[in-house]
Amino acid sequence: METIKAIMTRRSIRTWTNEPVSEEERRIIMAAAMNAPSAADARPWCFVEIDDRDTIGAFTELGGTEMLAESTYLVMVCGDVSKEIYPGFWPQDCSCAAQNMQLAAHDIGIGAVWVAIYPLEERVRKCREVLSIPDSITPFALLAMGVPNEVLPPEDRYDESRRHQNKW
Ligand SMILES: Cc1cc2nc3c(=O)[nH]c(=O)nc-3n(C[C@H](O)[C@H](O)[C@H](O)COP(=O)(O)O)c2cc1C
Repeated sequence: METIKAIMTRRSIRTWTNEPVSEEERRIIMAAAMNAPSAADARPWCFVEIDDRDTIGAFTELGGTEMLAESTYLVMVCGDVSKEIYPGFWPQDCSCAAQNMQLAAHDIGIGAVWVAIYPLEERVRKCREVLSIPDSITPFALLAMGVPNEVLPPEDRYDESRRHQNKW
């Protein structure tokens, strides 16, 4: 899929079939994550991949996350400040990785939704607990994926008023 087409047609998918995401598809999505830009190319990220049904079930209790019961493949994008070169950029770096994952997933026909974790303290705590994540690593965003069971039309959110030319 052409890049612009992928960007303009991606939607958050929240209902999935029970067909698994193949290892080849997982590899494409994870490679896209790790090819993201990051400050000083520090790549201050790590990822926990989850396809265990009980563990997926634990995430349905975060609040407003009941739909995750249908997801067949979750990836917790985590920040690792020990890898930073310029401190403080890790959330931006992890966001780039997460967005790459969403676009790569869409490109290969996998539906994804970003579930907010950081900076919601209670969600960060719960995710650490469920996945045994050490204190030095911060759960940042949960990408829930699977074979889509819905088709959503593209949104056109272009807003001319957000553009400023040369000065505010
Ligand atoms: C930082 C961030 C946090 C989000 N958190 C959630 C969430 O917790 N639950 C959810 O269902 N969707 C979440 N989303 C998805 C947004 O609701 C969605 O991207 C937005 O409504 C636009 O719709 P679209 O992705 O279909 O274009 C999040 C997206 C981002 C970027």
